[in-house]
Amino acid sequence: MLITNTDNCKLSPEFLGFCSVYMQRLKNYDPITYYHSMRVAESATLLGEQLGLSEDYIAQLRIGAMLHDIGKLSVPKSIILKPDKLDDHQRSVMENHPYAGYKLIEDICDSKIVLNCILKHHEKLSGKGYPLGLDSDDIPLEARIVSICDIYDALAFDRPYKRALPFPKIESILIKMAKDKEIDKMLTRTFLSNFSYHMRPYTKKISVFEEKKRELESNDNDRQKEELEVI
Ligand SMILES: [Fe+2]
Ligand SMILES: [Fe+2]
Repeated sequence: MLITNTDNCKLSPEFLGFCSVYMQRLKNYDPITYYHSMRVAESATLLGEQLGLSEDYIAQLRIGAMLHDIGKLSVPKSIILKPDKLDDHQRSVMENHPYAGYKLIEDICDSKIVLNCILKHHEKLSGKGYPLGLDSDDIPLEARIVSICDIYDALAFDRPYKRALPFPKIESILIKMAKDKEIDKMLTRTFLSNFSYHMRPYTKKISVFEEKKRELESNDNDRQKEELEVI
């Protein structure tokens, strides 16, 4: 997979190349998390557009959201795929994935927005999140956006340990989480104000993550591209 998201994006081609490699690794290692990450990237982009954020910010947000769970490469499959409740040790390994992802990307990424999405997407405004237990003032907008999109996607799709929930149920859970200061209230309101808008990623193709067909590149320089189907 070659990520060629260059529209209004100031991230370096070298970094985007690393992103391609890491996302391909994630796809091979844990396809469920890979497709989850691609959907969260699209949903975060839509929310960023709803909020009227700048194109450059949204471009970085999209990459940060796509990489938000890249640290799961360091989590054993026996934990990721476990259908039952995790024990304390397994939970601590799982809850280290934001930090593991941050360390993986830190030296090759010059975007604070991307790094914040990875490191802080499980922080809660109440201060009861992980891995840092940050106070609300220290949780940046990009991490708050990814957090909502991440939770929404986790509820809307099957996971090894739970079934997908119906949308009315998801809506009531998100409202309760906002009330309990687990996620941002204003962002939740914006997200829910056009719920169907956020369901779009699950029915349309992602157009920004293009996969070039290498074999076609070598034929007559006919640079045909293929969109990734998001399911
Ligand atoms: Fe995560
Ligand atoms: Fe996630």
